[in-house]
Amino acid sequence: MDKLAIIGGRPLFGEIAISGAKNSALKVMAASLLTDETLTIFNVPRLADVDMLLKLLAQHGVDVTFEGPTLTLQARTIASTEAPYDLVRKMRATFNVLGPLLAREGKAKVSLPGGCAIGARPVDLHLKALAAMGAKIDLDEGYVVAAAPQGLSGARIDFPIVSVGATEHAILAAVLAKGETVISNAAREPEIVDLANCLMAMGARIEGAGTSTIAVSGVPRLHGAHHTVLPDRIETGAYAMAAGVAGGELYLRHARLDLLGAAVGVLEEAGLKLTADPTGVRVRRTLDRCRAVNLVTQPFPGFPTDLQAQFMALMTTADGTSVIKETIFENRFMHAPELGRMGANISVDGQTATVRGVRRLKGAPVMATDLRASMGLVLAGLGAEGQTLVNRVYHLDRGFERLEDKLVQCGALIERVRG
Ligand code: EPZ
Repeated sequence: MDKLAIIGGRPLFGEIAISGAKNSALKVMAASLLTDETLTIFNVPRLADVDMLLKLLAQHGVDVTFEGPTLTLQARTIASTEAPYDLVRKMRATFNVLGPLLAREGKAKVSLPGGCAIGARPVDLHLKALAAMGAKIDLDEGYVVAAAPQGLSGARIDFPIVSVGATEHAILAAVLAKGETVISNAAREPEIVDLANCLMAMGARIEGAGTSTIAVSGVPRLHGAHHTVLPDRIETGAYAMAAGVAGGELYLRHARLDLLGAAVGVLEEAGLKLTADPTGVRVRRTLDRCRAVNLVTQPFPGFPTDLQAQFMALMTTADGTSVIKETIFENRFMHAPELGRMGANISVDGQTATVRGVRRLKGAPVMATDLRASMGLVLAGLGAEGQTLVNRVYHLDRGFERLEDKLVQCGALIERVRG
């Protein structure tokens, strides 16, 4: 298994091009199942998760062309309405093919999903939304078997908690349903807006994406479209924090501060200066050492759970004590003991981690069991004294495009050790 070897302690100077958002691209790709015409998607990141979903889409009969960051998808006919365990178990976003298949073909059989081990991550809200639209849903040996022979119907869907995936899934199914669907307590993440923009370009009628009430008026058919995926806000935040950990100054090309929500204020409080211009964001640490800041993860526009691990890495060497509360997933502190192996002083009590800043971390072999936690360890390694070996690089390959190239370009000493 590949590892990343990082020699820490070098400030970062230069430019990093922020890629298209993984979590947006994956849902936009699922939208290709809704039409027999061509969907052309620009700014798609080359990531293991994207490849995995492409395999699944090809299995459903989608023709795929991927050149540079441009992906062309055409589902002339649906060859199979079944998404097998092998293609769904590794990644949760694959589950979102269920709604489009059901909406277009009136039936689908999709394995229950896998994904990062950050909590229980049920799909009950996805299924309740589809059932509210008239789907008959059964569970059979690890598969969801769904049928709507007369098509789906518009419905009122009131989510008890905010779920990004369930909101997206409800929209993906509602666009071809008969009548109007109103989703309340909808997620407001920028990826929801991106998906809605793509679907509207395909002829869907959607109002309110980006607010907590979304109304979808079903249309009989969708057509082809061109769509550009928005820049990855999690990658943006992670590299901004890299400048915080290592010092220096980075220009994050294509980054957009408006996508970062509360993270902007938190990073500024910690001692980073973020300056936006029309083509990107410049970031530098204004203090010798970052300041400790308390944090609670929240749905957008709150501070994202997907940046919590990276922020914890930043806080390990901050001046003072930072209390970090994770409210979205119940098992998302797995990086804490690994950071401890590098000399961080972190105590975890349930969903709260208390990080007492130390002057410097020391490099060590570490490993994480999810994507964002792995990035937290990379950041810690960039600031640490000596060598850090981050094991299980395949997690990073799922979500950070050309990670080591981007960092090396800015002066980091980081290389992939094949193994
Ligand atoms: C998306 O996951 C992202 N993944 C996650 O990013 C991200 O952490 C998360 O949203 C929150 O922002 C993708 O977009 C592919 P949720 P999702 O449904 O949709 C509970 C990464 O690293 N819940 O908003 O799965 C759930 O267990 C990944 O890129 C139910 O109880 O997240 C969690 O506690 C990791 N029942 C909470 O809701 C359901 O049916 C929020 O999860 C669905 C969710």
